[in-house]
Amino acid sequence: MSRLNNNFYTGFFKSDHLSEKDKYLFSKKSPKYKFNIIGAGMIGQEHIMVTMLEGRAGINGIFDLSEDSINNTCRFFREEYPDEKELKVYDTLENACHDPEVDGLIICTPNFTHIDIVKEAVKSGKHILLEKPMATTLGDAWEIKEMAKDYQSVFQIGLQYRHKPIYTEAIHEMLERKSAGDIKSISIVEHRVPFLDKVNQWNKFTEYSGGTFIEKCCHYFDLLNLFAQSKPEKVYATGGMDVNYKDFEYEGNKSNIIDNAMVNILYENGIKTQFNLCMFAPMFYEEIMVCGDKGRLKAYENENFLPLNHNNSYLEILSGEDGAAKTTNPCYPTVIQESGHSGGTYYEHKHFIDNMEGNHKPTASVEEGFWSIVVGEAAEHSIKTGEVISINKMLEQDIYSKV
Ligand SMILES: NC(=O)c1ccc[n+]([C@@H]2O[C@H](COP(=O)([O-])OP(=O)(O)OC[C@H]3O[C@@H](n4cnc5c(N)ncnc54)[C@H](O)[C@@H]3O)[C@@H](O)[C@H]2O)c1
Repeated sequence: MSRLNNNFYTGFFKSDHLSEKDKYLFSKKSPKYKFNIIGAGMIGQEHIMVTMLEGRAGINGIFDLSEDSINNTCRFFREEYPDEKELKVYDTLENACHDPEVDGLIICTPNFTHIDIVKEAVKSGKHILLEKPMATTLGDAWEIKEMAKDYQSVFQIGLQYRHKPIYTEAIHEMLERKSAGDIKSISIVEHRVPFLDKVNQWNKFTEYSGGTFIEKCCHYFDLLNLFAQSKPEKVYATGGMDVNYKDFEYEGNKSNIIDNAMVNILYENGIKTQFNLCMFAPMFYEEIMVCGDKGRLKAYENENFLPLNHNNSYLEILSGEDGAAKTTNPCYPTVIQESGHSGGTYYEHKHFIDNMEGNHKPTASVEEGFWSIVVGEAAEHSIKTGEVISINKMLEQDIYSKV
């Protein structure tokens, strides 16, 4: 019998009264691997928490350009994990990437920095988990895809929404069990509060984030690509900057990101899809509807800040006279669910480490990261030009004719 994952069961059982000699189930496992965090901001801290919870890896150190972020993350680490060795603070990116003590690099810096950081990181040959979006432009995303092509270690993109409980279950039902038959159309909704504050407010500017479709919606374009099991053919988007940050300026620059949109994507296999974004809604609400020739799946995740007793997640599959219906509330154990992004980040890590160990687990590949940027870039173009964007033409013009 394997021992319990101490970190996972903390809070459920008490073991402090036991001497080390009497601990078998609760004996502390030493992590086999060490990770470095590049960019110790909001998601950097989530990666630290999830690494520590998962337990097979520990955090060796961090590299960041901001003194505040470094101090904040070191303090957080000390307070949360008082028994752990202090975090090493690297003075250069090179030192953080090439420390022989370390097995994996988790890149969590703002989007526009990813390309240069990846160029250094790949020289290390270490396992890489690169936050989404992999880049801010199609050209940079292509370059990263090329760098990753023959990479010998794991190179994963942080598109972890597919590991949230509602999508994990929807993938199982729609793609593995084919509960609704052949998929014909897919719709995804994201309604949420505005972009949050960031270090130097990089997410308010298209130049630094790639724009809303790339920065945020890459998650949903990844999901549409995944559920459609095909390549996007045409993209048409409408949208605008109608409510949020219209008067926002930072160091003399005016914010320029859209806050609501409708995107239609037609896939090469004929599947029709739609994405609906509103970033001035008082909630975090995500919904997916998948219609097949034998039924329909609907699932949602909902945090609306109200003191009402309601389920935060729901999934239904209705098949009419063709079969049994199912309604359920997908979730993970509380400690995982609450560790970030409904537990999606935890399973992203679990799969990352499984892949490091040669136990193949499906996660977002660099190729899939690239295709999420393709849709995002096409949607940005479509809003600017008012035209339907042909993906083949866009790739021919922006990528294939230049390589
Ligand atoms: N997968 C997800 O669900 C998810 C969620 C949030 C953020 N992200 C992504 O993670 C990345 C970071 O986002 P965040 O919310 O943590 O931002 P943040 O602003 O909170 O943190 C970014 C950190 O990177 C540091 N930094 C900036 N340039 C750097 C450089 N060149 N080298 C080292 N450090 C540098 C900043 O000082 C800051 O501490 C972005 O790519 C973002 O899109 C992903």
